[in-house]
Amino acid sequence: MEHRTQSIAVVGNGYVGTVVSACFAELGHHVIGLENDPTRLEALRSGQVPFYEPGLGERLQAGLSSGRLVFTDDVKEAMDHSDVVFLCVNTPSGPDGRADMHAVEVALRSIAATIERHHILVTKSTVPIGTAPWLATLVEDSLPEELLAEAAFSVVSNPEFLREGTAVNDFLHPDRVVLGSDDPAALETVASLYRPILDQSFPEGDPGHRPSLVRTSLATAETVKYASNAFLAAKISFINEIANISEMVGADVTEVALAMGLDPRIGSRFLEAGIGWGGSCFGKDLDALVATAEEHGYEPSLLRAVVSVNRRQRGTIVEKIRRELKGLRGRRIGLLGLAFKSGTDDLRDSPAIDVAHRLISEGAVVTAFDPMVKEVAGMPGLRIADDAFAVAVRAQALVVATDWPDFLSLDLPALLASMRGDLFVDGRNLFDPLAVIEAGFRYEGVGRVAPALDHSLQS
Ligand SMILES: NC(=O)c1ccc[n+]([C@@H]2O[C@H](COP(=O)([O-])OP(=O)(O)OC[C@H]3O[C@@H](n4cnc5c(N)ncnc54)[C@H](O)[C@@H]3O)[C@@H](O)[C@H]2O)c1
Repeated sequence: MEHRTQSIAVVGNGYVGTVVSACFAELGHHVIGLENDPTRLEALRSGQVPFYEPGLGERLQAGLSSGRLVFTDDVKEAMDHSDVVFLCVNTPSGPDGRADMHAVEVALRSIAATIERHHILVTKSTVPIGTAPWLATLVEDSLPEELLAEAAFSVVSNPEFLREGTAVNDFLHPDRVVLGSDDPAALETVASLYRPILDQSFPEGDPGHRPSLVRTSLATAETVKYASNAFLAAKISFINEIANISEMVGADVTEVALAMGLDPRIGSRFLEAGIGWGGSCFGKDLDALVATAEEHGYEPSLLRAVVSVNRRQRGTIVEKIRRELKGLRGRRIGLLGLAFKSGTDDLRDSPAIDVAHRLISEGAVVTAFDPMVKEVAGMPGLRIADDAFAVAVRAQALVVATDWPDFLSLDLPALLASMRGDLFVDGRNLFDPLAVIEAGFRYEGVGRVAPALDHSLQS
């Protein structure tokens, strides 16, 4: 398959769209990014990434200076300057758990109103299984008669698997590229666009690790995304359940997970016990998959359990703090971390925020520090500190809520010295319990029994 440079429009330049725009421009394609949020658009045009994502700023600026990347809020301009349109708009959870397709629908209607020649419409947003025929009908119904006869568009599903925090690397070095379509020519055009990634033939490519290209049907491509996220969430809920049992029987879940993971059928990744999974995708994608199953009259009991174990896990940490502090009302608690995971400033469905909410609603005074989060909208009760030491001052407990590796270099004895209490709750099993105990803390992890200090070794 040849590699031709293409003209691409990327509709919606948030966490996913900005990576897609900047990386495709880096690979030599001409990219026009359509963004309708004026603040985001302004930032992107001036080379600023409106959120924290390592390595993206440099690529955005390189794309803008090369002239291969431009941003607009004019859909006609985007359609005039593209042959392939990647839909990267938001698809949040609706009140009933179904994906809210409002942004997709608005984007599609505006595309249909401005389309003048054949385009390939690629869904990169995570859209419910069965979206492709809905999308095709919606666009078709908005087209003028003369374009209908010409088959003005083709549809390709291209789910995205990038993770925030490593998004650029994930996009440029994916494990697989999944393309679904019932139009083989359109599918091959989109595949040719990915050719430098598939061959790892770009300057930073790694030809020793070429991703697989999966060519499949629209429904299968849409399902792969939901099945992958549901499986990853299930892996975490599974090890959290084992963590809770480990605590009862005196086992250490980190060692259980390590030994389990040595079996290649299981694998060690995502077997990390803690306060549960979160982020913008797992919860909403599981809810949407449950809703799809229900629509078809199927009871998805395993998927429901994955969600309920996760909800309970966030509460388990609050229970632990309550138990150890003999109550929560008026207790001063320092929270280390707010983002849903390290490497990002994304707070969407963050377990750390959920834990903070629960603690505050029970009367605790919570001060938090996160290296990348300086404010939290809608939580006036949450105090945000400028550094980790400020959260420790007069606190009865410190709680690790996000797995930022930076926390590992904190001076634990110095933190303890400014506290009123000595409780250290490691909600991410980030620390070596012995190091925490040696610093003078009482340690509580997830699924691990705190080791006793061997005083014979102390001078
Ligand atoms: N964030 C992730 O890690 C991730 C990973 C894989 C897939 N996804 C999926 O990708 C999609 C986008 O996710 P995100 O996190 O980038 O969302 P986001 O909210 O960060 O970005 C969406 C962007 O689209 C813009 N937008 C909405 N409607 C528009 C329109 N009509 N015209 C122009 N711009 C429009 C919004 O202003 C926003 O900037 C979702 O379906 C999500 O499930 C996300």
